[in-house]
Amino acid sequence: MCGIVGYIGKRQAAPILMAGLHRLEYRGYDSAGIAVGNKGTLKVAKCKGRVRELDELKPQRFKGVMGIAHTRWATNGEPSDRNAHPHCDSAGRFAVVHNGIIENAAALKAQLAARGVTFSSDTDTEVFAHLIAMMDDGSPLENVVSAALRLVVGTYGLAVIDAARPDVLVVARNGSPIVLGIGDKEMLFGSDSAAFVRHATSMVHLDDGEIAVVRADGYETRKLDGTSTVKTPSELVWKDEAYEKGTFDHYMRKEIGDQPDAVRRTLGGRLEARFQTTHLGGIELAARDLLDVRRIKILGCGAAYIAGATASHLIEQLARIPTQAEPASEFRYRNPVIEMDTLYIAVSQSGETFDTLAAVQEVKRRGGRVIGIVNVVGSTIARECGQGIYLHAGPEIAVVSTKTFTCSVVALALLAIHLGRLRDLSNANGARLIKGLEALPDHIAAILKREDEIARLAECFRKAEHAFYVGRAAGYAIAMEGALKLKEVSYLHAEAYPASELKHGPLALVTPETPTVIVLPRDDLYRKNVSTIEEIKARGGPVIAITHPGEAHVAFDRSFEVPLLEPELDPLLLNIPLQLLAYHVALQRGCDIDQPRNLAKSVTVE
Ligand code: F6R
Repeated sequence: MCGIVGYIGKRQAAPILMAGLHRLEYRGYDSAGIAVGNKGTLKVAKCKGRVRELDELKPQRFKGVMGIAHTRWATNGEPSDRNAHPHCDSAGRFAVVHNGIIENAAALKAQLAARGVTFSSDTDTEVFAHLIAMMDDGSPLENVVSAALRLVVGTYGLAVIDAARPDVLVVARNGSPIVLGIGDKEMLFGSDSAAFVRHATSMVHLDDGEIAVVRADGYETRKLDGTSTVKTPSELVWKDEAYEKGTFDHYMRKEIGDQPDAVRRTLGGRLEARFQTTHLGGIELAARDLLDVRRIKILGCGAAYIAGATASHLIEQLARIPTQAEPASEFRYRNPVIEMDTLYIAVSQSGETFDTLAAVQEVKRRGGRVIGIVNVVGSTIARECGQGIYLHAGPEIAVVSTKTFTCSVVALALLAIHLGRLRDLSNANGARLIKGLEALPDHIAAILKREDEIARLAECFRKAEHAFYVGRAAGYAIAMEGALKLKEVSYLHAEAYPASELKHGPLALVTPETPTVIVLPRDDLYRKNVSTIEEIKARGGPVIAITHPGEAHVAFDRSFEVPLLEPELDPLLLNIPLQLLAYHVALQRGCDIDQPRNLAKSVTVE
């Protein structure tokens, strides 16, 4: 959600910043801009639209060895040329890029206006640019920025340059991520390491309340009150190639295809065949602590929440611990009861989702235990939890989650087996599930090879404007995920319902133009699902079944069979065709698959 990139060194900054912006575009893509400092002046270019539209203004030709750039997901002021970042003071000396929300912007704006400042945008960020210009007393830039930030209420990851101080950039963090990239006699920074992975050899995450003074030959960090802080650089986990789209037309399709390898990495070193259990080195709770767990609450947003909902069935079955998933965005506002014998689990691909982070902080504030299921190493949620399971799925660039959904469920399955084996899950069942997990990547690969069949299924949606996705138990969670993917990338209205609930109301909406996708495993609930299909067929609704091989006890309009694995792990496989289905419906409808309208990856505002 908004991407920030900055550079200072010996090389021309503009090409490096523009390449960084292209890499960060998945974080927001309604406008983009760049400011480069050279010989006491700033060159600024910005416009509404994608980074490729900014490219057309030829900012790559700007001369100068320091600068900042931004790709935006609008929160404050509509997407437009004038609201695009960077924002400057009236003299055009200071430029600011910002991710987050300055909550007292209106009050600050009124004070500045009273002193004669005129504004050229509707953003909160511009207020900050004028504020630092007003407060500049000639002291070091970091002092001026710190003083201005002390007047700000709200969240920010921001960067400031001053044409008159060309040897320094200042960045600050409070609630929105900023990572410094350390290169060879050059420094970079970004909202995430994708911005600078090509140029840096190590990185440093800023913490909330920290400010960094960045020069070509290094950096210093401090708190807003001036107290120095000490940081330890870490290695870049994902190399440049991991961000490439390769031969695929879309990152979403590439990342669906990444799943066999991504799952292998999530499983890597974590299966313990000797004791028919799993080994989770990132969880510091001893067996005795885990045996004390009486309840599990999984928190996440969007697909991460649904991964939790899918896995809650698995944990209950394997470990017999009551488990519930809840949207993290709702959790902290309902004055939740935090229990000491509950294990809280935060699921987040990016590790930066504001609502999930706030839920984690609320659990911790009240003394609860929380672990993270996170993809991005060193991200805020991972650090806030302090323990958990990294997915190692590789970078996910498409706005919609695919491989990280699968890997989150796999990580939670590892936990479920671990908890189960500490309790009543038998040796034989532990061994069976471990074998099932080992077989999972090859089964996913086999489904992916049948993509043509799914592309043909997608044709059923040609005339549709609405679709239902139904299932029971974990199948309902998979239906939720399938519907979320379809609406995000194809803009079709897709509604997920428990199959059992259809007859209690939504059946009124079933027509020959409204396809229903049913998640139909051959499990104990198969016959119940068959009854649901009959109810839909009786109203003339087309039915597409994602099911297992075997005799069909009812006529579907279309179906896709996935191999049977283990009943507890089957939801993982039933989801794969639904990812491809959403992709192909969107492709046939000509949608912008990797950057769907109104969305952004990594939602770092409330
Ligand atoms: C859906 C999707 C979003 C994210 C949600 C949480 O395809 O991508 O719903 O799942 O914004 O993001 P993370 O996992 O980064 O916390």
